[in-house]
Amino acid sequence: MEIALKGKRTLITAGASGIGRVIADVFAENGARIHLCDIDEAALAKVRAERPEFGASVADVADPAAVDRLFDEALPRLGGLDILINNAGIAGPTKPFAEVTPEEFTRTMAVNLNSQFFCTRRAVAPLRAAGGGAIVNLSSVAGRFPMPLRTPYSTSKFAVCGFTSEAAYELGPDNIRVNAILPGAVEGPRLRNVLEKQAAAAGRTYDEWLPTVLSMISMRTMVSQRDIAEMALFLSSDAGRHVSGQLIAVCGNFEGYRRPGSP
Ligand SMILES: NC(=O)c1ccc[n+]([C@@H]2O[C@H](COP(=O)([O-])OP(=O)(O)OC[C@H]3O[C@@H](n4cnc5c(N)ncnc54)[C@H](O)[C@@H]3O)[C@@H](O)[C@H]2O)c1
Repeated sequence: MEIALKGKRTLITAGASGIGRVIADVFAENGARIHLCDIDEAALAKVRAERPEFGASVADVADPAAVDRLFDEALPRLGGLDILINNAGIAGPTKPFAEVTPEEFTRTMAVNLNSQFFCTRRAVAPLRAAGGGAIVNLSSVAGRFPMPLRTPYSTSKFAVCGFTSEAAYELGPDNIRVNAILPGAVEGPRLRNVLEKQAAAAGRTYDEWLPTVLSMISMRTMVSQRDIAEMALFLSSDAGRHVSGQLIAVCGNFEGYRRPGSP
């Protein structure tokens, strides 16, 4: 099985920390050349110090002008493009949807969905010029079933699945493969923050709520950032050469949320 990415020119959004940073490191371990972006300048400065061989641009990928500047920097530096990882995504608010403000809803959709459209439309020409390539979009298990009090997030992640299917259909004849990864409960501070808010809304503590969440996952497990990065590696590599248009969950089979208190 060929999973090496030997010299593959890879652009990763929101790559300065979290899952995106682990994807950058795993891809580099497997021979890829990396350009990443992030909205957080301090986190990017840390990446530049730790991995001077990575290209690193400041960009808010919800802003189409910033995405244009990002591609104008990344493409000449990489000398083209083989792989795009649309990783940027924010949690958005945790509250009943009638209390969500239009600004919160719009911002969550802009970062999680619009950014993938802005980046993918700029990636098409260089990927075609390369004779094909791979795009991996980060969705979530919340793109498959509703998540308590997370309407903007869940809506955006369902939309990412739709965008992925549509882009795979349109770009397949150009040998450009488009897939989505749906992570489940990924260990880390972001998940803890979300579960603490859900627990509070259910009148529980985090320690009381966590076993309830795990009981909804067939394998009773969280997943790691590296689990997500390794699926992105498979999908971007030659081993995944005939995989396109797929929505692949890495989640230990998260079955869906039950209402607090329900059996
Ligand atoms: N962590 C989880 O439990 C989990 C579960 C399912 C899906 N996901 C998805 O995986 C992806 C990565 O999640 P994560 O947990 O690593 O995220 P994170 O919250 O750790 O953030 C990672 C990076 O995104 C950057 N970022 C935020 N907004 C940005 C913007 N507008 N433009 C550019 N960069 C921006 C941040 O500065 C940060 O460096 C997201 O799409 C997320 O929705 C995560």
